[in-house]
Amino acid sequence: MKSLNFVSSRVFAPLIVLVSIVSTAVYAHQGATGVVKARMDMMKEVALSMKQLGQIVKGQEDFNKVQVQQAADIISSHAVKLVELFPEGSSQKPSEAALAIWERRTEFDAIFDEMKVSAERISQSAEIATKGDELDVDFKILAETCSACHKLYRIKK
Ligand code: HEC
Repeated sequence: MKSLNFVSSRVFAPLIVLVSIVSTAVYAHQGATGVVKARMDMMKEVALSMKQLGQIVKGQEDFNKVQVQQAADIISSHAVKLVELFPEGSSQKPSEAALAIWERRTEFDAIFDEMKVSAERISQSAEIATKGDELDVDFKILAETCSACHKLYRIKK
């Protein structure tokens, strides 16, 4: 996961816009278009939400149920949309998508499903939590879905 400068939730929404503009212009996925750009942008929003959750889990930001649930909802709803954004034959540069995605499509999709379920669990846990560190275990499980998938299906080209 690329590290993005993190910010308080007050400037969070504008930052997503800013980050996608800046990174589209400057970073590795330069030249990405169509479905590849769409999924990269979505992954970046997921990464920002993870960063926000991470700060709360670590106690660097105060626990705030609404914020946690908003971030978790972005992740779970994006998981559903992302599954649709990997059509066969969409692995050309600058995409980092591995061909293995289309060789093991069912397994690939299943990890998105785990990502969705894990994010929903955080949202449920937030209902009764009073401190960020109570979400620690759920957060780690969610983060493992990112790395599990990236390890197998995302490659530097
Ligand atoms: C089921 C597989 C899968 C899961 C789960 C997944 N990713 Fe990804 N991710 C990918 C693939 C494949 C790419 C490369 C896409 C491309 O370049 O076309 C990617 C790319 C990215 C990128 C780079 C986007 C860019 O601008 O190039 C980020 C950031 C990212 N993922 C974050 C996350 C985070 C955070 C999570 C967990 C909450 C996550 N991903 C979960 C498969 C996954």
